[in-house]
Parts: sequence; C-alpha cells; structure tokens
Amino acid sequence: MAVERTLSIIKPDAVGKNAIGEIMARFEKAGLQIVAAKMLQLDDAKAGGFYAEHKERPFYKDLVGFMTSGPVVVQVLEGENAILKNRELMGATNPKEADAGTIRADFASSIDANAVHGSDSAESAAREIAYFFETSEICPRG
Ligand code: TYD
Ligand code: MG
Repeated sequence: MAVERTLSIIKPDAVGKNAIGEIMARFEKAGLQIVAAKMLQLDDAKAGGFYAEHKERPFYKDLVGFMTSGPVVVQVLEGENAILKNRELMGATNPKEADAGTIRADFASSIDANAVHGSDSAESAAREIAYFFETSEICPRG
C-alpha cells in the first residue's frame, strides 16, 4: 500500500459545534498525520471553484451558501491508503446512511450540512490539495 495525501475539510457546521479537535483526533488515532492545516473563511468564488464538478447539480447553490456560512478548517492528511481511509472515517455523504462511529454519523446534521469533505480519488486529492495549499505550507514529518 502506498503513502498518499488527501484533502480534508472540516465544514462550517462542525466548526460551529466546536468539534475541530475531536475530528482531528479521529484522523490521528487512525494513523493519519496532519501535515498541513489552516482555518479559512471561504467566499463564493473560492467555495464555488472548489465544487465546480457539481455546478450543474440542483444542490450547488445551497452547497456554496453553506460552505461560506462560517469558517472551515482545510487539512492535508498523509498516510498509508489515506484517501480511502479518510472516506471510511467520514462515512456516507448522507449521515442517515453513515455507519455508526463515523464522523458524519456522529457530527453531521443532514446531507447538506455533513461535517467533513474528503477527496474521492488520487486525481481529486492532487487537485484539491493544490487548490488550498502551496507546497511550502505542507510539512511532512517522515
Ligand atoms: P458529493 O461529492 O456527492 O459527496 P461527498 O462529500 O461525500 O464526496 O457531494 C458534495 C457535497 O454536496 C456533499 O458533501 C453535500 C452536498 N450534497 C447535497 O447537499 N445534496 C446532495 O444530494 C448531494 C449528493 C450532495
Ligand atoms: Mg465528493
């Protein structure tokens, strides 16, 4: 298995629930290292560009509105199989379908306010990490 990097976002609903630390702890306890992190207030252009793949979907406008409703924490997670491991820790997009013990089962309120984002493939991870981080902001610890 290869060491991978993936982009994680703690969304405004989870930041608003004061759950940043608990969510970061789940990544660390699962063996992923947080090699970059920052808190940001997204604007329409930055959030809309991030979710450009969903531009034609009916939920796009609300999604951008939600992602700009408060600060987010963007992070780069590194570790063995990090992309899939993060998706497993997150649980299903709809928290009603998320397995018990997953981040979305425990912290998400609804399909649109669902606590976290995680890259879904190696291609998405590379694009999404570059969307938020300069190379110099990523600090692998070996
Ligand atoms: P998607 O990429 O399908 O889910 P995931 O975040 O699990 O990769 O969708 C992106 C986000 O769009 C999702 O986290 C929440 C929002 N969304 C809705 O609000 N309604 C929906 O029906 C879907 C599919 C997504
Ligand atoms: Mg997705």
